[in-house]
Parts: sequence; structure tokens; C-alpha cells
Amino acid sequence: MDYLGNGEHDSELLQAQAHVWNHIFNFINSGSLKCAIQLGIPDIIHKHAKPMTLTHLVSALPIHPTKTRCVYRLMRILVHSRFFALQKVIKNDQEEEEEEGYVLTDACKILLKDHPLSVTPFLLAMLDPIFLKPWDCISTWFGNDNHTPFETAHGKTFWEYVGQEPKLNHFFNEAMASDSRLATSVLIHKCKDVFVGLKSLVDVGGGTGTVSKAIAKAFPHLDCIDFDLPHVVADLQDEANIKYVGGDMFVAIPPADAILLKWILHDWNDEECVKILKKCKEAIASSGTTGKVIIIDMMMENKTGDEQSMETQLFFDMLLMVLLTGKERNEKEWAKLFLEAGFSDYKIIPILGLRSLIEVYP
Ligand SMILES: C[S@@+](CC[C@H](N)C(=O)[O-])C[C@H]1O[C@@H](n2cnc3c(N)ncnc32)[C@H](O)[C@@H]1O
Repeated sequence: MDYLGNGEHDSELLQAQAHVWNHIFNFINSGSLKCAIQLGIPDIIHKHAKPMTLTHLVSALPIHPTKTRCVYRLMRILVHSRFFALQKVIKNDQEEEEEEGYVLTDACKILLKDHPLSVTPFLLAMLDPIFLKPWDCISTWFGNDNHTPFETAHGKTFWEYVGQEPKLNHFFNEAMASDSRLATSVLIHKCKDVFVGLKSLVDVGGGTGTVSKAIAKAFPHLDCIDFDLPHVVADLQDEANIKYVGGDMFVAIPPADAILLKWILHDWNDEECVKILKKCKEAIASSGTTGKVIIIDMMMENKTGDEQSMETQLFFDMLLMVLLTGKERNEKEWAKLFLEAGFSDYKIIPILGLRSLIEVYP
């Protein structure tokens, strides 16, 4: 064993230590970002409408006077993690005295409260203690027969927990809706052809209807159903060409030409996915058309992916193992599911960054 002081191996050892330290402290990036969101820092800087000096930021923040000196340290790490940047501000026109002020980067702009595609609800849900506790139970879960670390942490499945806790139900649905707003805006602009010619569509597990509403608006002749568990759709009112139906996709799905499954199949294991897909096939058959299933989910090992994208895919895959029984899949794994559920063919359209749209034909 080589230890420090043994010459040529010293720098490898120090690099190894730095690598371990950075992994131990990975949570500091998410914790610091969550704090900035909770203090409203992105919105305060945005409203300022020009680079905001530290002094101005401190005076605008709802913090105790004993904490003012810590704001610089919080902002320094968030500049490093590229959520904010520093820009020169002319302090006084005559003296041309310059100061630096904080501005938002593009990543920070989609965390603004009123941004139509804000991902803040998703961030706040994923970093809530209820969602974080299962990460502390993974090794225990490996030694027991629970389905998920979530169950080990909370004594019930994720869906049971969400169904029993109205606050978490609201929180989770908001998080999903925030992603759907972003995804749908891309979907409707880039993939119009997918919906052209359809007469009816059911968005299975469609949450509070963000996707159905956008599709129903873009295609007024298409009858849309947002189908989800009864507690999710209970308070929603039908509109012109959109209906809300409560039910269980493992039991029956309302008939339609097209069945949309956005961020559904990755929540479930292979056996469960085959059951859901068979129910989709029955729903298409009972509508009397040839129809299709439209899946929006991640395609693992996407060839266009870089190092960072690969890490995102691995993060999502672990998230699904920890909270639910699902996983992220590569093309071979997807194809196997379609075949087992009795579908004849499929087409992958890579449209949403790491996620693809997959059309599956009966
Ligand atoms: C990951 S969320 C995706 C929501 C939405 N499709 C989106 O992408 O924003 C999964 C959805 O499946 C719903 N769900 C879970 N089990 C279900 C079941 N047995 N039948 C119908 N919907 C279900 C959940 O309530 C939740 O809204």
C-alpha cells in the first residue's frame, strides 16, 4: 500500500481523495440550489432587471441580519455551479467606478416562479424530505423483501403515500405538470404529424391534464380524455373536447384511437408494463381503429448522448429504483416489452433531448 510521502503516487492519492470528497458532497449542490429557490433569489435578481450587486441582493432578501455575510458564500457556489453569473455594473456614470453584479444563467431562468415552463415544482418535490428519506434506506432495502426503498423508508408504496396525503398529492401533481408544460410545448410544435388524423386520444396517467389540455387546444377536433387515479382527477371539470376520467389502468382504459403514455412505463417493472400495454391494445381495439400507442420516455444509451446526459439517465434510473418499481430502458428492452404485449412494430422519434417519442402499432 502506498501512502503520502512515497513520491510518484502522491498526486494520484490526492486526486482520489478529491474525487471521493466531491462525491460525498454532491448533495451540497442541490441543497444550495434549493435554498436559493426558497429565498426567492432568482426572482429577486430577475425583477431587478440589471446585474444586482451583493449589497442590493442582501437588502432585498428576507433573512436575519446575523446571516447577511453568508449570502456571498451561497452565491459563490451557485456561480460555480453556473446558476448565476457575475457581470460588471457601472456604479456611477461620472466616476466610471465599476462593480460586479449577479445575473441569471439560462438554467436559472427556468427556475423562475412565473416562467411558463418553470421546473421549480419538480425541484421542490424531489428535494422534499419525504422524497429524500428513501435514499438513506437503499442498503437496508437490498437486505429485505420490500419492493422499493421508498417502502422501506415510509412503510407504504409511493402511490399509496401520494393517494393518502393530499399535500403530497398536490406537490407531486404540480411537479409532473411543470414537466408536462415544458415537454408539451416541444411536442406540439415538433410532432404535429403524430396527432394529425386522430379522432380520439386517452392520456393514461395524465395527472391533472396539462398534456391533454394542450393537445385538445391545438387539435380542436380531437376528443381527449385525461385518465388517472380517482384522487388525481376528482376535482377537475370537463371542458369542450376534454374529459377527466378516474380509474385504474391495470383494470381498463377507455377506448380511443391513440393512447398516450408520458412518463408512465418507466415507473413500472417489465411485467407491469406488459400488463399496461395489453390494456392499451384492448382500448384501441374496442375503439374499432388500428390506432397506436404514443410513449414519451427516456431512451437509455441514446447515441447522441454526451457524458453529462449519460449521468442524467443514470440519475433517473436510480430515482425509479428508489421511489418506484420502474427503470429506464434501452431500445432492445423497449422492443421486448412491445413484442410481449402483442404489438407488431414501433418507431422512435428522438425529440425531447434525452426523451423520445415512440409510436407503437398493434
Ligand atoms: C410519473 S406521473 C406522470 C404524469 C404525466 N403523465 C406527466 O408526464 O406529467 C405518473 C402518473 O400515473 C398515475 N398512475 C399511477 N398508477 C395508476 C393507475 N393504476 N392507473 C392510472 N393512473 C395511474 C399517477 O397518478 C401519475 O399521475
